[in-house]
Amino acid sequence: MKNLLSIKELTGEQIRMLLDLGHRLKSERGNHRELPLTGQTWALIFSKSSTRTRVSFEVGISELGGRPMFLSTRDIQLGRGEPIKDTARVLGRMIHGAVIRTYGQEEVEEFAAYSKIPTINALTDLEHPCQILADLLTIEEKYGVGSWKEMKISFLGDVDNNMGRSWMWAAKHLGFTLALAGPEKALPKAETLAELDCPNIICTTDPAEAVRDCTVINTDTWISMGQEAEKGTKEAAFFPYQVNAELLKTAAPGHSVFHCLPAYRGYEITEEVLEAHAPVIFTEAENRLHAQKAVLYTLAKDNA
Ligand code: CP
Ligand code: NVA
Repeated sequence: MKNLLSIKELTGEQIRMLLDLGHRLKSERGNHRELPLTGQTWALIFSKSSTRTRVSFEVGISELGGRPMFLSTRDIQLGRGEPIKDTARVLGRMIHGAVIRTYGQEEVEEFAAYSKIPTINALTDLEHPCQILADLLTIEEKYGVGSWKEMKISFLGDVDNNMGRSWMWAAKHLGFTLALAGPEKALPKAETLAELDCPNIICTTDPAEAVRDCTVINTDTWISMGQEAEKGTKEAAFFPYQVNAELLKTAAPGHSVFHCLPAYRGYEITEEVLEAHAPVIFTEAENRLHAQKAVLYTLAKDNA
């Protein structure tokens, strides 16, 4: 692997390899056989807020022998208009890898192309690949490895956001049933579905249909970072898609509710449901560290 820019660009085999490695690195935490980032500096270039992603990358880079360098775009010249391609060519001569959180997917792609160093998408408006790898790892820990085709997963709310799109590509690569439920306007566009060409993705405006017999029910904020101005107009249409106890009555026995966090209680999820599923939700957050270590490890090895 040269970069991790999206789930779309991965293959099912690469996802399998990253998950296997993630499970192994989690079990070996504190006692890794190899530290492939030894002597390396990896920059975290963030234009948006972050708790989980920043901390898990800083810890993961350190634990694999490297040195993380956090660069807020508020502080570097990129934030004052220096072009990405110039920033990328400068950093590419000094550091060994980059983890980027920004708005446009084309920004991480341009950085990767010009810097020529391994580049990781730490969330764009298009995809959130690191979160999906952590979620897949968490599902395998809870429900076993290798049962993807029998799994029904749902995603409720703002389903055509970065999380929803990464889930869609994961369904394409792994073959699980993915039911997406949200207001008509929030469902994926016909061209997105045509590009995916994936019969195991179901889109519906009926939240009960999406949740019925479902093992993993996912949700995310209705207002992603950068969309704050839409809060007033957007929110009302989403309340029927709130993950609450009533909606979960028809989910499969032993189901789990997932949330990538941060959660907005009383909006996309109730306090009661979040707290009932807190053990798995905070394991999801922890697994960011282990899944991303698998990505860092693979990129360091493959680009050595
Ligand atoms: N889930 C996630 O990416 O969290 P942060 O925004 O805190 O990094
Ligand atoms: N969809 C959310 C995810 C946050 C981790 C956002 O982009 O803000």
